[in-house]
Amino acid sequence: MAVALAPAAGNTLLAAAQPAAPAAAAPAGPYQLAPLPYAADALEPFIDAKTMEIHHGRHHATYVTSLNKAVSDQPDLAKKSPKELIANLASLPEGIRTAVRNHGGGHVNHSLFWSILKRNGGSTPSGPLMELLVKKYGTFDGFKAEFTKASMSVFGSGWAWLSIDKQGETGIETTPNQDSPYMAGRVPLLGLDLWEHAYYLKYQNKRMDYVTAFFQIINWDAVAARLAKPE
Ligand SMILES: [Fe+2]
Repeated sequence: MAVALAPAAGNTLLAAAQPAAPAAAAPAGPYQLAPLPYAADALEPFIDAKTMEIHHGRHHATYVTSLNKAVSDQPDLAKKSPKELIANLASLPEGIRTAVRNHGGGHVNHSLFWSILKRNGGSTPSGPLMELLVKKYGTFDGFKAEFTKASMSVFGSGWAWLSIDKQGETGIETTPNQDSPYMAGRVPLLGLDLWEHAYYLKYQNKRMDYVTAFFQIINWDAVAARLAKPE
């Protein structure tokens, strides 16, 4: 009687009383949706709480649920990390490759996105990260201009990235849909979600305003940590 056992969303008492049922709001399967590392309103006014709640609690959650579904009858694959899965798409059974590409990519991309956000008060990076950006783009503003240009060039849904390859070369790139630099053997250091679900409630069609706001909420320490240990 699966229907009788399934707890209502948010009904933790019932979930606790029925251990065989999945925990409320937790996607069934090996992959889990981690809570946001800050309150939903932490990035106001640059990203509004409602957008964060829907983006994390519905969009990201759906990627996790759909990834779990894709590997539900592949126990060996389900032992791998989402990053391992998307970095080796060609090795996956053809029947689930597209689903893992889209939903595994969505899970990995969003997990990274939350981790590199924080109100930064308009600050800029420092240390080796800043040195790298200045060396490559002349100034921090030069980097900002190039990243903004790349973000505006994405047609439809996708992402803009600062990534690093196996030789240690960094660069700005864009990907369509939920594709990730991991799929091309590179490690993303910084990523910007350019799907309309990331900004439409507050910014509607004004993607430029959203990209400008993004620079007020980058957690540069998190990006620097990724540069120090790209994985
Ligand atoms: Fe998104």
